[in-house]
Amino acid sequence: MTGKKLVLGITGGIAAYKSAELVRLLIKAGAEVQVVMTEAACQFITPATMQTLSGKPVFVGMWDASIPNGMPHIELSRQADAILIAPASADFIAKLVHGRADDLLSTLCLARDCTLLVAPAMNKQMWENPSTQRNIAQLQADNILVLGPDSGEQACGEVGLGRMLEVDELLLLINAHFTPKLLAGKRVMITAGATVEMIDPVRGITNLSSGKMGYALAQAAADMGAIVTLVSGITAIKSPANVRNVEANSADSMYSAVMHGITNQDIFIGVAAVADYTPIEKHAQKIKKCESSLKINLIKTKDILADVASLPNPPFCVGFAAESEKLIEYASQKRIEKKLPLIVANDAAYAMGADDNQVILIDKNGTFPITRSRKSDIAQSILMHVTTLL
Ligand code: C5P
Repeated sequence: MTGKKLVLGITGGIAAYKSAELVRLLIKAGAEVQVVMTEAACQFITPATMQTLSGKPVFVGMWDASIPNGMPHIELSRQADAILIAPASADFIAKLVHGRADDLLSTLCLARDCTLLVAPAMNKQMWENPSTQRNIAQLQADNILVLGPDSGEQACGEVGLGRMLEVDELLLLINAHFTPKLLAGKRVMITAGATVEMIDPVRGITNLSSGKMGYALAQAAADMGAIVTLVSGITAIKSPANVRNVEANSADSMYSAVMHGITNQDIFIGVAAVADYTPIEKHAQKIKKCESSLKINLIKTKDILADVASLPNPPFCVGFAAESEKLIEYASQKRIEKKLPLIVANDAAYAMGADDNQVILIDKNGTFPITRSRKSDIAQSILMHVTTLL
């Protein structure tokens, strides 16, 4: 979102308090935010708060003398890469549908030549009302992007659909809107998370992989227009939107899930921390504690990534190498052994569970370090690199 110019329109609704956090996150993500509020929005949050957070004067009225040409609706909409209305009240949505222009925000929406994104927020009865539903359908027909709403407890105490999406979800959707569609139409399969190898019905062997890197790659690939299948082991993360999530908790079930769907995939990225060994015997009943020691015999699992890369017509394969020493040497070796065009090397101890990472991309042309950053940014950089090799 770096350098993108956004107009954030705030209309009258209790969810307006969330817009303060939204501005903060948008600016943190690199966007420039110009806040425009309706008179009603000022009853819920003050322009002073929004000015402090956005670092720019907030516009409310049509007749603001500080705009040099006296036409704020034209000036503000022409400068914007996108306009986001969050929260968008039922009344403001109705205005958009009819092309009304009786205040600054509705006028600049009518005068725009950029994308308009709308995050509705209202009571569930108002949302379900046929008038609102007709209006939402009309917005979509007019190519206005409707983000949400969410379901849950409402300020009035009722429970249902109508809550504004949480700000981090809005941020993901806005980010997706701005991401260049470099993987449009490409099929991408990603494995993510940890596997668990069961010993008996209640015990298993697993590892500390959080799934964050694989999920970030799935999100980034979907944002870039890919058709994504995420074969997911154990993780506590919510699946990204627009991604097909296939659950596969053991090394063996992950192998089957991947091989079942691998035909026609253009890119395969093995991020999952797949167990290298699995118990030979899986006890049907819980093992009772009696002996002073217990021996579990393990057998090597099948290497999913190596087998995909060895298929007669393999997709473009990307592997991950988590190493605790000789990072480049071991990762390069692994790239050759598994016949991978690209491997992502990272420090085993650091990468697991963290929100950020520091990696080195290794391909036939050499090594390309990516400095420490959020896993979402690392994911975008990895995929950008992949597009140069396809
Ligand atoms: O050989 P090693 O486990 O270090 O290789 C790591 C890479 O191989 C990762 O990309 C991982 O997802 C993949 N892998 C796999 N199947 C296995 C073991 C590792 O796909 N059984």
